[in-house]
Amino acid sequence: MTTRKTRGIALLVALMTGLVGLGTGYVLWGRAPNWYQVRDVFQLPATPENELIQYGWQLVTETPRLIGKSASDPKLRYAGNDLACTQCHIKAGTQAYAAPFISTFTSFPMIVNDEVLTLTERINGCMRRSMNGQPLPENGHEMNALIAYMRYVGKDSPDDVRIAGMGLMPLRPAPETPDRERGAKIFSDSCSKCHGSNGEGQQKQSPEVGFSVPPLWGSESFNSAAGMSRMTTAAAFIRAKMPYLTTDYHNPFLSDQQAWDVAAYMTSQPRPPGPPAEHR
Ligand code: HEC
Ligand code: HEC
Repeated sequence: MTTRKTRGIALLVALMTGLVGLGTGYVLWGRAPNWYQVRDVFQLPATPENELIQYGWQLVTETPRLIGKSASDPKLRYAGNDLACTQCHIKAGTQAYAAPFISTFTSFPMIVNDEVLTLTERINGCMRRSMNGQPLPENGHEMNALIAYMRYVGKDSPDDVRIAGMGLMPLRPAPETPDRERGAKIFSDSCSKCHGSNGEGQQKQSPEVGFSVPPLWGSESFNSAAGMSRMTTAAAFIRAKMPYLTTDYHNPFLSDQQAWDVAAYMTSQPRPPGPPAEHR
């Protein structure tokens, strides 16, 4: 009997914490502090911790120059492409529904498929898949800087709560089966002027490395194990964020169906293979 009672109480406490947590998330959404404000890390006072945060921000925004496949320091060429984290984690991970980093520090370690996933492992998941490369050393300067930056953008955010706007915008199931042919047409009408007719993107002018518009497929893109190579992920991201600059989640440009169709087209194109399953 005692066990049953204890269990009952534990369940109640768990429920209540959950509700309070959700409540906090919603309350904070409409009021100060605005978690999605633009932050200038270079305004922070000069301290060793703040220098680490600044380096973290640079790694997210200037990824190709620092740890890309053409990085200035050959020892730091961990990524296998020249994408930047900020090209998917828009505005250096401070944009709602574009995979922001606000609740990231507080929500790891996380249980995924019954296994504990640490923040280090999650970052290296993107290194292996989205960046088509090698993991960053666990306690290295780059890993520490990325984590310091994520902790900074999530400063004072509620513990163990994914605040509203985390992840991607929920997308309704496709009204009709997603269709690549229709997607190809949408691509050439609304995407190719920036991303190129072969999805190749636009490279920056040398000596700069990286892309002013990232490639969507082909050898320089993310690999087939990456989240963005899945139709559901791509469709949700595209609907809330593309065409770039003129679209946000309040005001999507494509209909649900069009987002699914163009995602079906994009994800059916060739890209580098993912790493072997044991290294994902
Ligand atoms: C090609 C797109 C792409 C690129 C480039 C990319 N990521 Fe990601 N990343 C994603 C997607 C998609 C998710 C999952 C978003 C979701 O559904 O919640 C993700 C998730 C994450 C998460 C988990 C966030 C959380 O709170 O759940 C971290 C941390 C992360 N990425 C770090 C990085 C870092 C650091 C880089 C650069 C070295 C990077 N990513 C580059 C697409 C990308
Ligand atoms: C005005 C130019 C422009 C147009 C039009 C545009 N994009 Fe983008 N796209 C960008 C830029 C720039 C980024 C990187 C965003 C950043 O760095 O903040 C991007 C990022 C992306 C990404 C994530 C990064 C990656 O490598 O996959 C996807 C997916 C994407 N766009 C798909 C599309 C699709 C599909 C369309 C058409 C519906 C489209 N875009 C239209 C400029 C554009």
